[in-house]
Parts: sequence; C-alpha cells; structure tokens
Amino acid sequence: MKRELAKEKARELLSKMTTEEKVAQMIQVTYTDGGREGALKWAKLGAGSFLHVLGDDARELQQEAMKTRLGIPVIFGIDAIHGHGLNNKATIFPSQLACACSWNPEVARKMGEVTAREVATDGLHWTFSPVLCIGRDTRWGRVNETFGEDPYLIGELGAAIIKGYQGEDLSDDEHILACAKHYLGYGEATGGRDAYDTEVTERKVREVFLPPFKKAVDAGCATIMTAYGFLDGTPLTANRRILHDVLRDELDFDGFVITDWDNTRSLVWLQHIASDMSEASIMAASAGNDMIMTTKEFYQGMLDALRDGKVDISVVDEAVLHILTIKYEMELFEKPEKKGEPGCFGKQEHLDASLDAARKSVTLLRNNGMLPLGGNVKKVAVIGENADNVRAQYGDWTYFTHPVPDPENTRPAIRPYVTLWEGVKEICDQSGIEAVYAKGCKVRPIEGQNEDADLEEAVRAASDADVIIYAVGDVIPQFGEFSDRADLNLSGRQFELFNKLKETGKPICTVLISSKPLCMGDTAEKADAVICGFNGGMFAGTALAEAIFGKLNPSGRLPISFPRHTGQIPVYYNQMPGWHGGKYNDLPIEPLFAFGEGMGYSAFAYEDLAVDANLKLTVTVKNTGDQDGVETVQIYQNDSVSSVLTPVKRLIAFTQVALASGESKVVEIQLSNDDFALINSKCEKVVEPGEFTVFAGHSSKDEDLISIKINL
Ligand code: NOJ
Repeated sequence: MKRELAKEKARELLSKMTTEEKVAQMIQVTYTDGGREGALKWAKLGAGSFLHVLGDDARELQQEAMKTRLGIPVIFGIDAIHGHGLNNKATIFPSQLACACSWNPEVARKMGEVTAREVATDGLHWTFSPVLCIGRDTRWGRVNETFGEDPYLIGELGAAIIKGYQGEDLSDDEHILACAKHYLGYGEATGGRDAYDTEVTERKVREVFLPPFKKAVDAGCATIMTAYGFLDGTPLTANRRILHDVLRDELDFDGFVITDWDNTRSLVWLQHIASDMSEASIMAASAGNDMIMTTKEFYQGMLDALRDGKVDISVVDEAVLHILTIKYEMELFEKPEKKGEPGCFGKQEHLDASLDAARKSVTLLRNNGMLPLGGNVKKVAVIGENADNVRAQYGDWTYFTHPVPDPENTRPAIRPYVTLWEGVKEICDQSGIEAVYAKGCKVRPIEGQNEDADLEEAVRAASDADVIIYAVGDVIPQFGEFSDRADLNLSGRQFELFNKLKETGKPICTVLISSKPLCMGDTAEKADAVICGFNGGMFAGTALAEAIFGKLNPSGRLPISFPRHTGQIPVYYNQMPGWHGGKYNDLPIEPLFAFGEGMGYSAFAYEDLAVDANLKLTVTVKNTGDQDGVETVQIYQNDSVSSVLTPVKRLIAFTQVALASGESKVVEIQLSNDDFALINSKCEKVVEPGEFTVFAGHSSKDEDLISIKINL
C-alpha cells in the first residue's frame, strides 16, 4: 500500500483509539522480560511491538493482539545483523565491517535480501539493521557492526543493504523493515566507551554523521533507532532538534523512530535529566521517539502525564500515526505474519551469497611473494585458535552471543560452515599437500592455565612444514556491546607464539580473524604475507584458503585504518590538517594499514585523470600484473582554500572494474557539485567556488593516487 493511503487509514484508526490503546501502541516489549505471561499481558493491552520473539511464541502473541478491541497487529523486530543470526539455522554473512571490505554495494544488497527472506520465513517483520555509525575510535566494542570509518562508503553500503531488506514494497512477503541506527554520533563516544558522551559540534554532526542517514532516508528506510549517548549535554533520546527538526524537517524522514534499549528509563536512573518516569516519558515522546523499546514504565508514566495535563495528546497521536502508517503500508492488517519462503534456511542461493560475500571481502595487505602458495609446497602448518574457531569467525550477533551470552562455548554451530583450517585442509587434500593444525595458545587465556606445552606443540608442527599460516585475532567476550578495549594489542601469547614460529625460518602468512583492526605489531611487520578476514561468516575459511592458494585473486580493500599502537587512535584517513609536528614522536605518521588499502595478485596503474566542465571524471586504469583482477577505483577530493577546515582528503566516489592481465580501461564517474560541498560555520551546506584537488587511485595513501586540480 502506498504511504499516503496508509497514512489516511492510520488517521482513521487513530480516531477510534482510546488514550490507553494509543500509549500501548508506542511500547515495544521483550519476551525475556516477564516471560511468556508478561508478554501475553502486554499483547492484550495492545503493545505495538515485540522484539527477539520467534516462531510459535510470536504467533501466540500475534493472535492475542488480533483479539484486542481494534485488532491491531504487532510487529516483531529482531537483530538480524549479518544474517538472521539469532536463529541458529540462518545463513551467517560477513560482519558489516568484513562486508565493507568488498567495497561492493551489491554484496550488501544481497546480504540484506537473503537476511530479509530468512527473517520473514520466521514470521518476523523488522530487523534492527544497518548500523550507520562511524568507526573511528577502534577501542569501541561495536566497530564490527559498522561499515568502517568513512561516511561516504558507509552511506553507499547502508543504502544498498536497506534496499535489500525492504525490496520495492513493504508489503512483500519476503522483505522486511530496515532500521538505520544509531541516530546519531554513537560511534564517536569519548574514549571509545560504548554508549557514552559524544563530544561533537553540530557542524561536525552535519559533516560526518548525518550523511549516511540522509542516504538511508533517501533509500526509503522505514525506521530509525535513536542512539544511547548524548550530544552537547542532551541525550539523543531527548533531543528534539536531532530527532525531529533535523530528521523530519530537513531529511524528510516519514517512517517511525524507535528508542534504543530502555533509553527512556535511562533518562531517570542513568543520565539523571528526568526526575521520574512521567517526566522521562514526556521527554522521549516530545523529542520525536515514536516507539519505546523495552521501557514498559513509559505506559504508566505517559498516562500519568496526560492525566495531569503535563503533555498534550497530540504528541502521542503523532507517534502512533507514524507507527500505524507503516503497519498499513506493510499490509499487516491483512497478513499479520510474514511468510517468507518456507524452508529457505540452507537454500543454495543463500549459501552462495554468503560465500560470494566472503570471497569479495578477503583483503590481502602484505605479500613478499610468499602467496599464492605454489607447487613447491608439500606441507602446510595452520596455527592459531581462530583458525578453527567458528564462533570467532562468525563474530557478534550470532546465536552464540545473543540474546544470552554463552562464554562457555556450549552451543554448537550448525553446519554448513568452513573454518580457515578446514578450508586449507580441503585444498591440501585435493592437491596432495600434507596439512597439520595446532592451536598454539588461547586468544584469551584461561587464568592459571599453563600453555607452554601448547606453544611447543605448535612450533613442532610448524618446524617441519614448508609454510606457516598463523591465525590471530580476538574472540567473542573481547568485543560487542559493553565490550570496549583499552588495549588493542593481540591478547594472550599471540605475539610470543609468532616470534617462536618466526624462529623456525619458515615463511609465515598471518591471517587476522577479528572483530576490528587490532594492533598486530610483528605479526604484520615481520610476516611474509598478511590477510585481513575480520568476521567473515560461514564460508570465510573457504574464501581465505582460496586466496592463500591463488584460487581467488583477492580484491578486498580496507574500509577502516589500522593503528600501530592503541595510543595512535584515531588514525582515520580523513583527518583535519594542522597537528604541530604532525605525528607522535615515537611512531611513524602512517597507520599500519591505511583506508582503502588492499592488494591482490595483479597490479594496477593509473593515468590520464581528467574532469570535464560537467564534472565527468575519466581515468585510465591498467592491469599491469599477470593475473586478471578486480580494481576498486577510489576518488578523493581536497578543497584548496575553504572558510572552515576541511579534511586532507575525502572519499567522494568509487567503482569497481574487472581487468584482464595487460588490459586497460577508461573508467568514467559522474561527480556532482554536492561532492565538493562543505558545512560552513553557520552549519549550511555550500560549495565554495575555487580550486579543488581531485585524486584517483588504488587507496587513500598519497603514493597510490594521481591528482589534478580543478576549479569550480
Ligand atoms: C541495544 C543495541 O544498542 C541495539 O543496536 C539493538 O538493536 C537493541 N539493543 C535491540 O537488541
């Protein structure tokens, strides 16, 4: 149903609702809070939504809702973040960060489409995805959930995954609602501390944090989730300027807004800006939150406030209108349960999509010629816990981690999945190569457990191999919500093990299986090859092994920079000029690996960069290597003189081009005036006429770029 008609119907229904029914419609309840009985009670009261309820439990609640006076169906939301991962049968995709290594919107779109179908098959309507936060302070536990550090790349991938989730029509049985989150500034929390203060000005909000949300709104995203933190002293939950004036009036958002988890109660007990639940309820609703996640106290708080005349019913009416409009647009009244495609879990198309995403995300960062492994290799040693740890490979928001954390590793993953060790072993078996595996050490050691014997065993296994593949990284309790790290060095004895392996004199390929950039030290600097896999999903092991043996020419590029040291953070590429000395005096200026960096078994050369009067950019790209390959052409700009400081470089476009060995192509990209805009000191978006440098090339590093000057 079209939005306008849906709105009309919503208005009509609203006129029939009692105050209690309206306020209940704004509440989203969790099943785990109060159990089945509690949830049923809320369904009878007319709660608008439930989260994290699946299968028959959801069906039962929906039936109760349909029996209420007006029979308003509920919508069920779930965190299907990189696949419908809270269902153990689901297809697990690379994390958003790993997916972003593909620099490929179609990969993100397909991930959304498959996830939507699996969520819909469970009868559910809505995923709390994508995360559009900016991953700059990598101490933050949720960097894995971001598409990296760059607003432009995040916006492109975010818009694509939203289209994948929602399809063309919200009433479609195989598509679900997306939810762009966390609005706004969440990733910039001071010190990388999850859900903490965000020290940014409104100008910076507009320059850095808002653009991905603008693209999400333009892509038709039906819902937005508020961030936990606060901006300029005002919690986002109570921030009408951001939630209403900017989101609705400027961005033209016409869906509904949901708070994050218990954010309304937090106004009282945590942030201390409301003295009681009645005041907090007024604040949250008046600011522009339409649905209230898990704060059931909102119900009574709002009813009290209405009764005492402290808030006008129009505030509630507006919120309920937003919610009901989307419910009508989804045609939820006719078909309260999404159908999806019965039995689609494990469908070949879904598994293929996950494998394809994993392949396109493998990012080779260093190679002194060790890779691809060739015919002279007779024995391979695979070392490291994360080489055979599916939970680390999957990462956050999979069945193992949510809703109930399982640090003891008791829940088995369901096949099919392929770990790095299994992927390498399979290729070795096919090629008559011997392969051995040893864990070596725990990524996160168990206190008091002596690992000397494990290290010795690993070194022994490596000593008579021809090459070593060493997996390093982090494991589930080290990342995620509530899990920020003050120290990003590889934990446990991972460095020590590397140095012992190095003493064997065998070539070492380090493979990073982690939630985010870690400080890799010698494991990167002294390795013969380095591959970044992050949390690559079900088939990361296959994709990584294919890259190692040259069955895949890796094409991933980093969506985020790697620090050399935790103290070097932030190292994002699009920094402002002007640091006295320009670097820490005890570290090189460059990050360990830069934004956009990544290599394969081809090499690419750029020439003849031009931008015509209509802002059509052309550049010739040649594959100078001896293998066919895919290059990601990256376009950056710098404003020569501007009224406010602008970044040293800013990504404004990218595209991918497949080139056979020796082939060259002229790549065309249409730029727009908007790509050269800045936010001036009055917070207006303007293009200041004058000179700009346009860069084109292989990564954000100066040596990888060619440039020209243009005048606008
Ligand atoms: C809190 C998280 O911040 C948010 O991302 C998530 O969607 C909700 N909890 C629901 O689980």
